[in-house]
Amino acid sequence: LHIVMAASEAVPYAKTGGLADVTGALPHELVKLGHRVTLILPGYPGLLADARACRTMAEFRIPVAGQHADVRIDEAVTPDTDSVRILAVRYDPYFDRPGLYQAAAGDYPDNLERFILFSRAVLETIEFLSRAHGERVEILHLHDWQTALCAVYLRSGEYPSLSHLKTLFTIHNIGYQGLFPGGEFAKIGLPPSLFTLSGLEFYGFVNLLKGGILFADAVSTVSPTYAREIMTEEFGSGLEGVLASRADGIRGITNGIDVTRWNPAADQYLPAPYSSADLTGKAVCKRALQRELDVPVREVPLLALIGRLAWQKGFDLVTDILPELMALDLQVVVLGTGEHPLEQQFRDARAKYTGRIGVSIGFDEGLAHRIEAGADMVLMPSRYEPCGLTQLYSLRYGTVPIVRRTGGLADTVVPFKPTTVQAGHATGFHFHGSASETFLSTVLLALEIYKDQRAWRALMLAGMRTDVSWTQSAKRYVELYRGM
Ligand code: ADP
Ligand code: GLC
Repeated sequence: LHIVMAASEAVPYAKTGGLADVTGALPHELVKLGHRVTLILPGYPGLLADARACRTMAEFRIPVAGQHADVRIDEAVTPDTDSVRILAVRYDPYFDRPGLYQAAAGDYPDNLERFILFSRAVLETIEFLSRAHGERVEILHLHDWQTALCAVYLRSGEYPSLSHLKTLFTIHNIGYQGLFPGGEFAKIGLPPSLFTLSGLEFYGFVNLLKGGILFADAVSTVSPTYAREIMTEEFGSGLEGVLASRADGIRGITNGIDVTRWNPAADQYLPAPYSSADLTGKAVCKRALQRELDVPVREVPLLALIGRLAWQKGFDLVTDILPELMALDLQVVVLGTGEHPLEQQFRDARAKYTGRIGVSIGFDEGLAHRIEAGADMVLMPSRYEPCGLTQLYSLRYGTVPIVRRTGGLADTVVPFKPTTVQAGHATGFHFHGSASETFLSTVLLALEIYKDQRAWRALMLAGMRTDVSWTQSAKRYVELYRGM
C-alpha cells in the first residue's frame, strides 16, 4: 500500500506527548511490512530547516480564512535509514514558533487557521504526488483534531481527483477536540450546510474532531478498552452519540513502542546498560538517578511519575497521598510540565520533604529514559488513558507500573492477583475507581511485594518479556487499511 500519515507531531522532530511517539514509530514498522509511507508534518523551526537537510518539492497557494498563503513542501534529503519519506509543510508565519500549539499565555489564537492550512497542504501534496510523480496514494492516515479537516475536505468534494483516497482517523485523546467559536466556521471555506448537528457544529462551536469522526472512512483509537469507554457518557466528552452514529464502529488498536529507541540494553541516555538476563546495570541507573535528582543514594523503593501535569493524568491523587507515603522509608521522583498549580505543588513538596522527593519541572527526553530505568515503580493514576506509553516503557525497563484500571492501562498491564502471579503473567498493579484511599492501598500492597525480592523480580521479568513492540499492532493497522 501507499500510505500517507499526517500528524502535528512526530519523534524525533517535534513532541509534546505520546502522539509523537506513535507517528514517529508506526511508519517505520509499516515500511518493514513492505508498504510505502510518507509522513507529513508542519514545518516547525528546526524541522528540516537546514538547506542541506532538505530540498523543496512543491509550492502551493492555499486558501485560508478568505486569504491566500504561499506554502512550500520540503522533503528530507537524507530520509530515515529505512526510508520513510518525511515532508514538511513550511509556512513560517504559522509554524515558525517556539511551541507546537501554545505559548505561555495559552493556545495560539490562530490554531484554526494553522491547521486548516496544514490539512489543505496535505491534500495538495497528495494531488501533487499523483500529478508530478505518478504516485497513487491509497490510504491517508490522520491523527487527532489537527488533521481531521482532511477527511472533511475530501468527503465534501473539494479535491475531486482524490476521490479514491481512503481515510483512517485515529483518536489519540477525545479530551482534545479542536473547539473554536462558531463564528470562525467561515474560515474553513466549507458550505454553511456543514455547520449543523450532522456536521462540525457542537453546542455552537466548531468541533474538528467531530468532523474527523463523521467524515473519515474508518475511525480507530489507541486501545480496545478506550474504544469501548468513549462510547459512554463518562468518557465520551460529549461525542459518544457521534461515535455511536458510525455503523462500522470504532476500532481499538493498542499502541506499541519503538523498541530500538527504548531499549535498556542499548540506551544512549543511560549510565549503564542492562537486560532481563543481567539486571546489575539497573541498580547503577538507580544510584545515578538518585544523584541526578538530588535525593540520597540509598536502597529504598523509588517511585516515579512522568508525564504531562494535566487533570487527565490524576497526579493530584499522588499529592493527596504524599503525607502517607512520606511517612514510609521511600523516595519519589517527578518529571513533568503542564498546569502551573500542579507544578508548584510538586516544588512545594520537594521543599517540605527535603531529600525524599526529586522534582524536575520541564520536558527532558533523556531524563524520561533515566527515570524509566532507575525507578522501581511508575505511578499512573490517570483519570482516563487512551493508551499510555509511559507504562509500556516501564514494562520494558523492568519498572513495575501501578495504574488505574482504565483505557490502555487496563489493556497493557497484567494485574497482580493470585491467578496471574501463579501463571507468571502479572506485570504490575491495578486499582479501580477514583478514591485516593484505593490508590494508596494499592501502592502499599506493591511496597509489601517489593520486600519479597523473588516475587518482585518475577513481576519485573514478566514485564520485560512482554511484547510491547509495534509488530502486532502494525499488522492490525494494515488489516484495517485493506478493509477500507
Ligand atoms: P500522553 O500522550 O497523554 O502525554 P503517553 O503516556 O502516551 O501520554 O506519552 C507520553 C510521552 O511523553 C512519553 O514518551 C513520555 O516519556 C513523554 N513525556 C511526558 N512528559 C515528559 C517530560 N516532562 N519530559 C520528557 N518526556 C515526557
Ligand atoms: C494521547 C493519549 C495517550 C496515548 C497517546 C498516543 O496523548 O493521552 O494515552 O498513549 O495519545 O496514542
